[in-house]
Amino acid sequence: MRIAVGSDHAGFELKREVLNYLEASGHEAEDFGTRSRESCDYPDFARAVAQAVASGRVELGILICGTGIGMSIAANKVPGVRAALCGEPYSARLAREHNDANVLCLGARVVGPGLAADIVGAFLSGRFAGGRHSRRVEKLRGLER
Ligand code: RB5
Repeated sequence: MRIAVGSDHAGFELKREVLNYLEASGHEAEDFGTRSRESCDYPDFARAVAQAVASGRVELGILICGTGIGMSIAANKVPGVRAALCGEPYSARLAREHNDANVLCLGARVVGPGLAADIVGAFLSGRFAGGRHSRRVEKLRGLER
């Protein structure tokens, strides 16, 4: 899968771990920055990753900040993006299966690298279940219009 990954300074270290995990799992990961621990603004990276997902240039996105909250608020403002902030694998899998989430947000000050890898793995292994969930996701799209 083609996956865009972005973080702010607080998520910089965990982003490196996530990129390594994605590459080791055979995915094509694209690093959207940030490139250092220098303080920066999470909406800039959320916008870049969310737009790559919304345009179809990549299939999924992963965004990391300190809590994951700022990234999820920002990414969800881009039409076509359904970003889910997850702190454990069950929610990550269900975010795909029920919500057809296309961006995963992580809090680097909340989860460690091992748990983050499990969360990412669960998110990537989930498949949208369709059925009654399609109607609900269509209503989410309606909120954008
Ligand atoms: C940066 O200090 C922090 O505010 C940011 O990474 C994020 O947690 C915001 O939601």
